[in-house]
Amino acid sequence: MATLSDYPHLASGKVRDLYEVDDELLLMVASDRISAFDHILPTPIPDKGRILTAMSIFWFELLADLVPHHVVAVEDPRIPADVRGRALLVRRLAMVPVECVARGYLTGSGLIDYRASGAVCGVALPPGLVESSKLETPIFTPAAKAELGAHDENITFEAVVTMAGVDLANRLRDATLEIYSAAAEHAAGRGIILADTKFEFGFTGGQTGPLILADEVLTPDSSRFWPAEGYRAGHSQPSYDKQFVRDWLTSPESGWDRASDQPPPPLPADVVAATRDRYLQGYERVSGRSFQDWIG
Ligand SMILES: Nc1ncnc2c1ncn2[C@@H]1O[C@H](COP(=O)(O)OP(=O)(O)OP(=O)(O)O)[C@@H](O)[C@H]1O
Ligand SMILES: [Mg+2]
Repeated sequence: MATLSDYPHLASGKVRDLYEVDDELLLMVASDRISAFDHILPTPIPDKGRILTAMSIFWFELLADLVPHHVVAVEDPRIPADVRGRALLVRRLAMVPVECVARGYLTGSGLIDYRASGAVCGVALPPGLVESSKLETPIFTPAAKAELGAHDENITFEAVVTMAGVDLANRLRDATLEIYSAAAEHAAGRGIILADTKFEFGFTGGQTGPLILADEVLTPDSSRFWPAEGYRAGHSQPSYDKQFVRDWLTSPESGWDRASDQPPPPLPADVVAATRDRYLQGYERVSGRSFQDWIG
């Protein structure tokens, strides 16, 4: 049986760890870490890694007719037993260094850019839009991957053209918007708004080959999901997954000052339990699958 120590550790992000299996394969391991307000919290959410991995797999499968993906296996002797259910064996790709974001609604950095310039990533939007406004048509708002700890930086489509060439830039935009629309339509049927999401793509051979959907897809860590019920533009929507965490961290009870340079305190058990429940419900609601079936 394989163990994690068999594999060289390549990198760790806020919540995932990347290992090299061989020249052609990587192991992407999702942890139970959770981040909020740009901090990794000291308290993990039990099962978050497995739930988000299950969710990613659900979407990769649903979208497989639309776009090939990088997943080779979720169950395999090369996947160590202690990370089973939260690790993906994936094809190692040459990654396109662009975070391919699609937005159907205006919030977050998109709203900040719009308020400053009337546009997001160079895409001009009509006047009068407010927090959480639905956009007339979804837009492609790419970002450049930032170094660890820094924010990704919104860039224009022209900047993607400069980096990747016009042909690849067009393909990235078209694929991003097409996948977003398919996913948003599925989510809508489940009573969930997919406000925005981020994809990463790569290639196996050269850039003439098909774009392959990589990384994680359509999880709450890469996307904003809002309950459709109660949606109203003009104010921020509750975060489907992190609302309890954010509410508690900003309440007097936590004793934490967001503006300070102190790390956030450990989460109380009830906040952890409620948050775990949210991830679970989110997965089961969006996929129609059962988490019990996933962990078998
Ligand atoms: N099939 C693949 N082949 C090669 N690299 C991949 C593949 N899929 C994803 N990646 C890369 O693996 C890394 C996953 O790391 P992860 O998302 O945990 O960290 P990060 O992106 O550096 O930080 P953050 O926590 O902000 O997301 C990313 O750099 C991503 O581009
Ligand atoms: Mg990442």
